[in-house]
Amino acid sequence: MRVVVIGTGHVGLVTCGTLAALGHEVVGTDADQEKISRLQSGILPFHEPDLDALVEEQAKDGRLGFTDDASEAIPNADVVFICVSTPPRSTGEANLVAVEQAVRLVGHRASGRTVVVEKSTVPAGTAQRIRHVLLQEGNGVRKELEVVSNPEFLREGSAVRDSLEPDRILVGAERDWAFGVMRELYAPLIANGARLIETDINTAELAKHASNAFLALKISYANALARICERAEADVVAVAEVMGADPRIGPDFLRAGLGYGGSCFPKDLQAFQHLAASLHYDFPLLREIGRINDEAIEATLEKVRAGLWNLEHKRVVLLGLAFKPGTDDVRFSPPLALAARLLDGGATVVGHDPQAMANAKEECPGLLASTDPYEAAEGAHCLVVCTEWPEFRSLDLRRLRDVMAQPFVVDARNLFEPEEILAAGFSYQPTGRPGSP
Ligand code: UDX
Repeated sequence: MRVVVIGTGHVGLVTCGTLAALGHEVVGTDADQEKISRLQSGILPFHEPDLDALVEEQAKDGRLGFTDDASEAIPNADVVFICVSTPPRSTGEANLVAVEQAVRLVGHRASGRTVVVEKSTVPAGTAQRIRHVLLQEGNGVRKELEVVSNPEFLREGSAVRDSLEPDRILVGAERDWAFGVMRELYAPLIANGARLIETDINTAELAKHASNAFLALKISYANALARICERAEADVVAVAEVMGADPRIGPDFLRAGLGYGGSCFPKDLQAFQHLAASLHYDFPLLREIGRINDEAIEATLEKVRAGLWNLEHKRVVLLGLAFKPGTDDVRFSPPLALAARLLDGGATVVGHDPQAMANAKEECPGLLASTDPYEAAEGAHCLVVCTEWPEFRSLDLRRLRDVMAQPFVVDARNLFEPEEILAAGFSYQPTGRPGSP
């Protein structure tokens, strides 16, 4: 099938590579000409494991190309994916301007039967808006344009695997022929055992928010437990293990730490709260998820302050700046929120991250950075583990201790085991676990 993908960000580019790998002819488009010309040269705008190899292979096999002029690609498309960004407005409502612009272009340029797919996360009810705009742009010409919701469930750092081996493929549509097109589009994945769930559009749009909010709820529940464990001298890691042994709960997303970040959970929670309010349903639980997440950063800051007394004239090194391991993405990154609080308190803050330092320095101007973790730790009075990059586990702890001014570690991701840190001669404050007196 002929597919056009509008928007070549984290979701769009993975969608391009995946659909090309399924055998379709895919054209990725973006308003950012610089991004498109770099993609045409095989240079990706962000780090995502296995994505460069996937895009390179599909481009080499002639199934994937890029253009900055979507209008030239849309007329021939059987399916057009809307993968543009939907950032939160100050009100928390999703900003759908880019969605409207993309949809107007499709309505104007599409010819013949075309499925218009909402891939970006959008609030329930957006499809009705899109349908109306498609009719407006059709200049009265009755085109067979059908809107479908096909939310992404990709995790950054494992997006390619999540896309080629999805837990489920969710398709929300209103007409049988549109369901038929989507079944054909994903036929290889379905034949490979992927579970296809077909619903009406509103249900599909809502299910995406519901899924992300529940994942964030699990994380905030674990972080609230960490606060209680710190007071009760209990171990939240062990509590989570006990809970996770119950298949009704499951072990995933119960890791207490510095809280969730990224371009999805914070944004989707705000959009879900705004949607609930617009439907006149008060949903305080969603507010609590965000409050507890903010509290996780405060709790970590308090641990640093408790060990340093004043922050002025103190140097703090942050191990990890990305919102999670495996990515260079610092959007809504908890480590940067902590860095900002430490800088406001008068500390000197040095960050080290395997992938995200350039993005972090752009996002947090006052932050220093070093490509060498031992250099970053030189003269530091406190080391905070902010992102659980696996390579940090193999750091030479004694060498770190020797270069630091004060051997003090706050482990905001419980990356280390208390015994190993204490044996290396550090004062140690983990999250939700007993630390040094
Ligand atoms: C998330 C959802 O997992 C995915 O299904 C959706 O499509 C997009 O949003 P992503 O944000 O890329 O994916 O990463 P994820 O692995 O979910 O982590 C989100 C945040 O939660 C990260 O900051 C991570 O550090 C944090 N997290 C995750 C925890 O703090 N504790 C956990 O136990 C799990």
